[in-house]
Parts: sequence; structure tokens; C-alpha cells
Amino acid sequence: MYHLRLIGYPIKHSLSPWIHQQFLERTNLKGSYTIHEIPLDASLSEHLKQLKAAHISGFNITVPYKQKIMPYLDKLDSEAKRIGAVNTVVNHNGEWIGYNTDGSGYVRSLESEFLDLSDERQGVRVLILGAGGAARGIYDALVQRGYRSVDIANRTRESADAIAKLNQTGAKTVVKSLTDATKTISKYDVIIQTTSVGMRPEIDQMIIPLHKVKKGAIVSDIVYQPIETKFLKEAKKHGAQILHGHTMLIFQAQYAFELWTGQKVSTAGMADALKNILEG
Ligand code: ATR
Repeated sequence: MYHLRLIGYPIKHSLSPWIHQQFLERTNLKGSYTIHEIPLDASLSEHLKQLKAAHISGFNITVPYKQKIMPYLDKLDSEAKRIGAVNTVVNHNGEWIGYNTDGSGYVRSLESEFLDLSDERQGVRVLILGAGGAARGIYDALVQRGYRSVDIANRTRESADAIAKLNQTGAKTVVKSLTDATKTISKYDVIIQTTSVGMRPEIDQMIIPLHKVKKGAIVSDIVYQPIETKFLKEAKKHGAQILHGHTMLIFQAQYAFELWTGQKVSTAGMADALKNILEG
């Protein structure tokens, strides 16, 4: 039996229970994946003590605890260590091991939608927009996977510089202003929008304009509510190929499920099903 949880706050509307239920069914494994909200005024250490006593197989951990969990872990995977945040904990014979599957999950979603990319990654030019936690994970996963040219543009330069310093792979990274990214957008093959701009469609904002985007470039937005952001709509209009944000959710979960159970699980058909759920 796999007893799995999601820890965070607020998480009542999380899609992870649905995704992991699908995985349990697809692998014929017995188990459960339930939510465990820890309100902001509660004691994290008390809740974690209870979890430890419950001998669960593992859990996901999300906002606002992705960093706060770290002192309670026995070991940290190298990816989580570099990123400085944990979203998945595996109980290995009573030891809690922390992983971060967000960045690698994103790269899985990208390469499973655009199959040629994984062969071409050495020559592909990537631009990441934003320099928050999500950008950090995605940047790390891309350079670790062998992408050799990954630039970062952000409103605040210092945060982008801090991410670029993570790189120990020899990949080339230029840190840019958003204005500079706008001017040079046509040279990128893959553009990844990781900021929260676009989450509020009523404001109708885009992090940068896309009218000079290269035809056939891949434009991706990790925002998934709304399912198709203005950024993606504009990208389509200008002849780009697009990747929706909800696919990242599925693949970061797939990687976490593999860590807990040791089983490969297919994601076939799940992006469409999740899109339907998100569209109500
Ligand atoms: P997460 O951890 O979910 O990735 P975050 O750490 O809050 O989110 O990061 C938010 C990102 O969105 C940052 O890159 C932020 O830019 P700054 O580093 O300059 O703050 C970016 N962002 C948010 N609102 C923005 C806005 N109105 N214009 C430009 N960038 C914005």
C-alpha cells in the first residue's frame, strides 16, 4: 500500500490528488493520495512529527513549505540541493529524502510534446522569462540535461544573476533585461514564461510582447489558469508552437510517483483530461 500526501496551504483545489489517483489506477498499485493542509499559524514540526509516526510512503510539499521542510529531512537529492527547495519527499526505510521534481518535470513535458528537441538540445537557444522559484528549477533542469544556451530575462536583474550562478555545466547564459529580451526575441527557439504575469486575464498583461517571435519557435507558459494565457494566444497568432502550463503538473507528478513507487507510469491522455477539468 502506498500512502501518499500533499502538504501545503491552501491546497483544497489542488489537482495533484486527481493526477496521482490516475497513476495509482494505471499502475494497479494499491494506495491513496490525500491532502494534508497545514495552516500558516500551525506548527509545521508538530504536523511533520505526526506524519513521521504515520509511516507514510512519501509526500509532496508545496507553498509555503518548499524551503521550510528542508531542516526536517535526513537527506537531500542533488537537484533539490542546487535549487534550494523540495517538492517531493520519499520515505526510504524511515529516512526522509527530499527531491525537487518541478524543473525536471517541466523538461519532460517540453520534450514529450516536442520530440525532436531532445536530439537538438545542444544547438537550441532557450530564453527563460522570470527568476522566481519555478524559473530556478527549470533553468537547473535544462542545463543539467544538456541544453547549452539558456538565457534568463527578469524585471529584477539580481535574481536572474543568482540563478545563472547555479550553472556548473558549461552552458552559456546571458542575463537580460525584459527590454533586451523583447528586442532579441527572434533568435530564440524555446521561450519559457515562468512569471505570475498572465494569471489574471482581466488585467490582460503579457510579460513581453511577442510580435517578433520566430515562426515555429516553441513558446511555453507555466501559468495554467487560465489554461491559455494571453502570452500563448499571441504566440500562436505569430506562428509559434505552444506548450500549455498544465502539462508541467502532470510530468512533475509522474517523476514524483516514480520516486515513491519505482514504477514507470504513462501520462497518455492526461493532458486533455486535465484541460477539461480546468475548463470546468
Ligand atoms: P515562483 O516561485 O512561483 O516562480 P516568485 O518567486 O514569486 O514565483 O517569482 C515571480 C516572478 O515573476 C519573478 O521573476 C518576478 O520578477 P521580479 O524578480 O522582478 O520580482 C516576476 N514578476 C511578477 N510580477 C511581475 C510583473 N508585474 N512584471 C514583471 N515581472 C513580474
